[in-house]
Amino acid sequence: MIISLVVAASENNAIGKNNQLLWHLPKDMKFFKNVTWAMPVVMGRKTFESMGSKPLRGRKNIVITRKPDWKSEGISVVNSVDAAVALANELHYKEVFIIGGGEIYLIAFERASRIYMTRVHAELEGDTYFPVIERNDWALVNNTANAADEKHAYPFSFQLWERR
Ligand SMILES: NC(=O)c1ccc[n+]([C@@H]2O[C@H](COP(=O)([O-])OP(=O)(O)OC[C@H]3O[C@@H](n4cnc5c(N)ncnc54)[C@H](OP(=O)(O)O)[C@@H]3O)[C@@H](O)[C@H]2O)c1
Repeated sequence: MIISLVVAASENNAIGKNNQLLWHLPKDMKFFKNVTWAMPVVMGRKTFESMGSKPLRGRKNIVITRKPDWKSEGISVVNSVDAAVALANELHYKEVFIIGGGEIYLIAFERASRIYMTRVHAELEGDTYFPVIERNDWALVNNTANAADEKHAYPFSFQLWERR
């Protein structure tokens, strides 16, 4: 089972503030949809709520919470990252996509072998951060730059990192 993280982070690793993203980047939303389509997506309960408490269509949605009776239509509920990965494995998926947020990335980081990082080329203040990707531990295997334009306030790069 390949455990992948999918994240968009500023240069200083900020990923969110007040339970929202720090940018609106339509090309990144499209990229995210393409990468995760038909696959299992795993998220913390707060990230699920930040997306309007609705499952992402066309994907197996798994939400992590400690709340024993929590449920939501179209959602598989688990109480740990390991249980989420185990569920995806039982369902015979070859890759599982951890899609945030900060608490869940922190737990999943050491288990992950791949990171789909959209690096937003700006220094931004957030209240939620992604761990530092250490060059000694991770290799950058793909890097595609995108310029800012009228729909994208910041330049950004699609990066694929693989654990060395
Ligand atoms: N830029 C990006 O790519 C990206 C992606 C996703 C999210 N975000 C941003 O990240 C922020 C949300 O992140 P967050 O760190 O506040 O929350 P989060 O990681 O989405 O969810 C946290 C919740 O997950 C559950 N949880 C955490 N650790 C657990 C454990 N060990 N066992 C069981 N359940 C556990 C708890 O749910 P209960 O409280 O229900 O028990 C906890 O409150 C928002 O600003 C969002 O916009 C950014």
